[in-house]
Amino acid sequence: MTKTKTMNEAPTTNRALRAWVQAIAEHTRPARIRWCDGSEEERITLERDMALSGSFIELDPRTHPRSFLHRSDPTDVARTEHLTFISTPRREDAGPTNHWMSREEAQARVWPLFAGAMKDRTMYVVPYLMGPAGSPFSRVGVELTDSPYVALNLRIMTRMGRAALGHLGAAESFVRGIHSLGDLSPDRRFVVHFPETLEIWSIGSGYGGNALLSKKCHALRIASAQARAEGWLAEHMLILGLTSPEGRTHYVTAAFPSACGKTNLAMLVPSLPGWKIETVGDDICWMHPGSDGRLWAINPENGMFGVAPGTSLKTNPNAMKALAHDVIFTNVALRAGRRVWWEGMSQLDEHEIIEDWRGAKWTNGAATSPAAHPNSRFTVPLRQCPSAAGSFDLATGVPISAILFGGRRSKLAPLVYEARSFRHGVYVGATMASETTAAATGAVGVLRNDPMAMLPFCGYNMGDYFAHWMAVGKGLSRPPKIFHVNWFRTGDDGRILWPGFGDNIRVLKWILERVEGTATARESAIGLLPHERGIDLTGMDLSKDALFQLLAVDSGAWLREADGVLEFLRKFADRLPAALLAEHRSLVKRLHDSL
Ligand code: PEP
Ligand code: MN
Ligand code: NA
Repeated sequence: MTKTKTMNEAPTTNRALRAWVQAIAEHTRPARIRWCDGSEEERITLERDMALSGSFIELDPRTHPRSFLHRSDPTDVARTEHLTFISTPRREDAGPTNHWMSREEAQARVWPLFAGAMKDRTMYVVPYLMGPAGSPFSRVGVELTDSPYVALNLRIMTRMGRAALGHLGAAESFVRGIHSLGDLSPDRRFVVHFPETLEIWSIGSGYGGNALLSKKCHALRIASAQARAEGWLAEHMLILGLTSPEGRTHYVTAAFPSACGKTNLAMLVPSLPGWKIETVGDDICWMHPGSDGRLWAINPENGMFGVAPGTSLKTNPNAMKALAHDVIFTNVALRAGRRVWWEGMSQLDEHEIIEDWRGAKWTNGAATSPAAHPNSRFTVPLRQCPSAAGSFDLATGVPISAILFGGRRSKLAPLVYEARSFRHGVYVGATMASETTAAATGAVGVLRNDPMAMLPFCGYNMGDYFAHWMAVGKGLSRPPKIFHVNWFRTGDDGRILWPGFGDNIRVLKWILERVEGTATARESAIGLLPHERGIDLTGMDLSKDALFQLLAVDSGAWLREADGVLEFLRKFADRLPAALLAEHRSLVKRLHDSL
């Protein structure tokens, strides 16, 4: 057995960390260990190594300075929910919506896969800080990975290296993530979380949330369990600042499932004059009750891992500007001259020949499958986004005035409605559903329940999660108002009714006016809706009929929906909070009364 060589001196004296790195190296047997410090020198070295090994294609430095394309293994292109496990001592604590694995089984089935897994590879020690430096809400994790792609992504996605070690100091408690590409076989792919011991074991995937352990594994699955124990919320939400023409700012969070437009909403360019949107976060939000009775939110991340297809100067000009330099693209298409392309980005020349996401020749006009993978991504620092908020780095976070829940629902759910109370809002979030997307493997377009957009990301029993939401709400003297939005509603002819993107400011405007108490609303069985003239349609071409359909409530259809909701809620059996069932009963009663 060759001896592991340490390439650089550990930039920390933290004994718990150094001992753990040693122990994992003894099991995984890397040829080398590299401690990541977040320096510029380190970036250049890793990028050069990636380019030399063929894992990075350097893009044209004139159009894409310091940017690269990475192609993942074609069998490893999205989150794999069926291979993702929560390991709690008791199965019922993981709950009916998670796959559970006992510690014994993980030890027997998964741990041996790590034995010698890093042989001939470098083990990167990647310390990362989730949250602003100096914030009491920030947390440290360390990922040990044999993927330099992962190390370079974490450098963008988190405050990586010395900043994290400084925050950690000599503390022994940090999230311990072990990641190996293994042999990339889906048959030997596992992502296992141990919320009680703050551990993550991931093997066999190099993609997205399976491999960038700071993101879904730490900041959502592990953090949600910590948040429950400590009285806060770790959520799959964007955070935006909304400023009216009069100069009043409110902060809003929004939970939509993966690939339903969080990144677009977080940085939208308003189609109404005088309004301004600032981006605090586009995917994850940690919210703490403040001493003022409000919820205060930080974005634990430092960058975006956004879905590329559909992103254009028209749909998301701020994202396009953010992508001007220093980007890692994954699984997008490549044009001649080493420029990236994806569906929806721009017009290709007729008969233009490019390379698809696998590197195969692809001809415009003659293609039978997309050139960019539908779940292809860009990784970019949030500060490169022109709409990035200064408040993004505030140690206190920002106070939240409204929470939005939403998804892809071609039918039923109106453009917007407001919950009658915080408790009713928890019910609205708990019972939301959305059509599946390419962000996870499996069929696309299938309607499924996805409470608070956390179905794949809640690290404990979701019945307890609903109860925790109720408890947090009870403790707030100034709770945010809760809304449900749906940008994806289609009309009877199957065509989408609402243009979305920059026009979503019109919905946000009504929401802000509701928060400030200046807009009226009409009662309906499902909640409070805008009056016909409540949504500002200035300068917009929307037919009266479309608006009517967007704001209609079909009580019969909602009653049929309620049957499915009840069936879903029943899964949680005795873990379901009584208050949620009470909300369900009153909804059904209001729907019957309105028939
Ligand atoms: C992922 O889980 O792979 C991921 C990156 O999450 P999302 O699709 O929500 O961006
Ligand atoms: Mn997400
Ligand atoms: Na899918």
